[in-house]
Amino acid sequence: MSSDTFKAFYVEETQKGEFESGVQQVPFSFLPDHDILVRVHYSSLNYKDALSASGNKGVTRNYPHIPGIDASGVVEEDPSGRYKQGDKVIVTGHDLGSNTPGGYGEYIRVPEDWVVSLPDGLSLEDAMVYGTAGFTAMYGVFRLEREHIKPEGGKVLVTGATGGVGSFSVLFLSSLGYEVVAATGKPEQSDFLKTLGAKEVIHRDEITNVSDGLMLSRKWNAAIETVGGSMLDAVLRQINTEGAVACCGNILGHDLSTNIYPFILRGISLLGIDSAICKMPLRLKIWDRMAKLNVSRLPEKYYKIVTVEKLKKEIDLILEGGQTGRVLVSHPQN
Ligand SMILES: NC(=O)c1ccc[n+]([C@@H]2O[C@H](COP(=O)([O-])OP(=O)(O)OC[C@H]3O[C@@H](n4cnc5c(N)ncnc54)[C@H](OP(=O)(O)O)[C@@H]3O)[C@@H](O)[C@H]2O)c1
Repeated sequence: MSSDTFKAFYVEETQKGEFESGVQQVPFSFLPDHDILVRVHYSSLNYKDALSASGNKGVTRNYPHIPGIDASGVVEEDPSGRYKQGDKVIVTGHDLGSNTPGGYGEYIRVPEDWVVSLPDGLSLEDAMVYGTAGFTAMYGVFRLEREHIKPEGGKVLVTGATGGVGSFSVLFLSSLGYEVVAATGKPEQSDFLKTLGAKEVIHRDEITNVSDGLMLSRKWNAAIETVGGSMLDAVLRQINTEGAVACCGNILGHDLSTNIYPFILRGISLLGIDSAICKMPLRLKIWDRMAKLNVSRLPEKYYKIVTVEKLKKEIDLILEGGQTGRVLVSHPQN
């Protein structure tokens, strides 16, 4: 490090409830007192990052703050000796980018047990194409598999299908042989979703514009539901007997209104996902499984790479539900 500061996308609370963000030099003393200093090459944009960048105190309690729940890069310092300088690593979830300065800065400082060595077969860029979005989708697949949801059981629904978690859920499930139905508010992205492996693409209104019956016709053997709220309520009422729903999102809010009958008359399971707290043994399995999939199978233009200077526009777009695929954030290395 040749300087006392590093470049970061920095968010400040200018007055109570008002936030401003921009790119600036930040002193290294802004980083917490954790052991491992990582020079970040790539981060990515997730919905949670957009909430943190826009002052959501449910995600980030205190400002100023550097968002970025994902980071890949190289170790600069590890006093424990576990990692050597230059080792390639990934950090996703835990508290990174929530209340710990995150991957939108050129450096992060994190505890040793947050760090994963970059698996063979992935570049630092590939790792952030997946990022928390891919990680969460694969976590959802593991959760469904643990409930014995098998490809021969029937259709699996993915909601928020063009988003980060949704699009990887479509890709992973279809790669594993499941018949995937993608529900989206962007029917014009139907070809994109079919390239990822969706058998069928439906408008998301088909899921939610239903009667308020306590149970609806059985349509899906399982679902990865990324939106929450009324979407999750509607999906739960459409699941087959002994089916399962893995849920992760709160885009439609944090309330869930449901009823008991899908659970006690159809024996369905509702499976929560918290990618941030995932324990290390499963965390490593998830990265390993993603590393073995070939990301070159992704459609061209599945992701774009921006620098922190161009990030604000992408944050606004993800908050509007307008992103398709993934946005990577690069810190050019001189
Ligand atoms: N629990 C966890 O561990 C975890 C991890 C990662 C993400 N998450 C959460 O999962 C959700 C998805 O995250 P993400 O990063 O994939 O976000 P994203 O890339 O923004 O994708 C969200 C997708 O949801 C759909 N959507 C947006 N607004 C909607 C609305 N008003 N009604 C219905 N659908 C809407 C859109 O897809 P279509 O246009 O295709 O419908 C959008 O692309 C977020 O709530 C995020 O916080 C949780």
